[in-house]
Amino acid sequence: MTNLLDDSKTDPFEVAELAAKRLAELTGVAAHDIALTLGSGWAKAADLIGETVATIDATELPGFSKPVVEGHVATIRSILLPSGKRALVLGARTHFYEGHGVRRVVHGVRTAAAAGVKVMVLTNGAGGIKETWKPGTPVLISDHINFTSTSSIEGAKFIDLTDAYSPRLRDLARSVDPTLDEGVYMQFRGPHYETPAEVQMAKGMGAHLVGMSTALETIAARELGMEVLGFSLMTNLAAGIQDHPLSHAEVLEAGREAEGRISALLAEIIGRI
Ligand code: HPA
Repeated sequence: MTNLLDDSKTDPFEVAELAAKRLAELTGVAAHDIALTLGSGWAKAADLIGETVATIDATELPGFSKPVVEGHVATIRSILLPSGKRALVLGARTHFYEGHGVRRVVHGVRTAAAAGVKVMVLTNGAGGIKETWKPGTPVLISDHINFTSTSSIEGAKFIDLTDAYSPRLRDLARSVDPTLDEGVYMQFRGPHYETPAEVQMAKGMGAHLVGMSTALETIAARELGMEVLGFSLMTNLAAGIQDHPLSHAEVLEAGREAEGRISALLAEIIGRI
């Protein structure tokens, strides 16, 4: 399938502007305030945060492509929150491991920014390195290690990533649930899970969570001046830390089991933003 973003001569921010314009036409909502990318285990939050006023197929917007992973849906929802704010739920995450390039990975974030969004909520399922965490534990992302060997920034733009995961939003999340723990998320390319040796390396480097998304999206959001709230659902202990091999089915199952609980928590946090 051809995608405007694949032509290196196209400006990805112009494609995001086009997508945001079409989004406004299709949803009837001129601008949005908050956007959410809901990873494994977080999808129910979309039903809990407010009233869905429009659902569109993401592939109707310039630059979006079909997701390849089971359990990921290519829809974008516009939701009216009780506060009167407008939220966009981006159900069409493109992962870096799909091999379509970083532009497609961060296009949802750029489209959200072009649609007026100031707060980007990024969620994922991840492997946990802290042995005290149990599968099903939601963890606030406090920082990341981008282990993809690439960046979402094009050109010589030097973006500050101190406090990339907004301390204000982390405090707000803890005001809803004071027991929330936080940790450093390390993005690997995937799609294979890590080896036990890689998990030990990640631990030595200061990571508490390993996964295959989020860091590149956060960098794109920070380039555009958005505040980022990041959440991992710890679906499993990382390879070599748990006593059995990893499976995608196990990750999905942990997501399903935790979904109601963590989605309700996220919805309550969104209500206070
Ligand atoms: N590693 C990478 N990504 C993941 C994991 C993991 O252990 N669990 C869920 N997503």
